[in-house]
Amino acid sequence: MERLDKLLSSTGRWSRREVKQLVREGRVLVDGVPAAGAEQKLDPGISRVLVDGTEAVIRKYTYVMLNKPAGVLSATEDSRQETVLDLLSPELRRQGLFPVGRLDKDSEGLLLLTNDGDLAHRLLSPRRHVDKVYYIRVDRPLGEEDREAFARGVTLADGTACLPAGLEPLGDGSEALVTLHEGKFHQIKRMIASRGAAVCQLKRLSMGTLVLDERLERGKYRLLTGEEVLKIGGKP
Ligand code: URA
Repeated sequence: MERLDKLLSSTGRWSRREVKQLVREGRVLVDGVPAAGAEQKLDPGISRVLVDGTEAVIRKYTYVMLNKPAGVLSATEDSRQETVLDLLSPELRRQGLFPVGRLDKDSEGLLLLTNDGDLAHRLLSPRRHVDKVYYIRVDRPLGEEDREAFARGVTLADGTACLPAGLEPLGDGSEALVTLHEGKFHQIKRMIASRGAAVCQLKRLSMGTLVLDERLERGKYRLLTGEEVLKIGGKP
């Protein structure tokens, strides 16, 4: 059982104070009956909640898609530098969200933030090999030899062996799509360095079934749709 104000504010649409006001104005129905109070408890898996006659999607967990801009840390807090949590609304910041995996400070693109620890664990588990696709721009054209080296699995400068990965050069080869099945520290930068080149821009486009919504401007975010939550293995 969860409190009504906690459940409704977890949608990111209302603060707890706003929920209180909505309840007071009789605009919130729980199973067809006006809610008794913002602190009313209900089972989100069973009860139906309407706000102004529209079903309010109540989820136990919150899932946020962020288009991370370069220059922001993939961390929950930092005493000096801006983190991805600083980009969210105060309501969402109170949900205990954390980024699922990291993008480097200078990397951009898809970052999933959630408070569903099970899902994060599953998506990051090395045994699950969840595919991640990145767009990269590099300082010299990549070609067939680089693609083959990635397909075999490159060895990094420190001797670390990488799993086979996808490399699809685009246009003249100074841009490419990279598909990883694992996540090592600075992995793409180090893989590209092992080919004698350097990454100038790196943007994550997808993680498993979750694809960056290109309508999201840099630094903007939205909640995952019910379908996206189901497909990625979250709890609707
Ligand atoms: N590989 C990198 O080198 N950096 C990232 O942020 C992600 C993948």
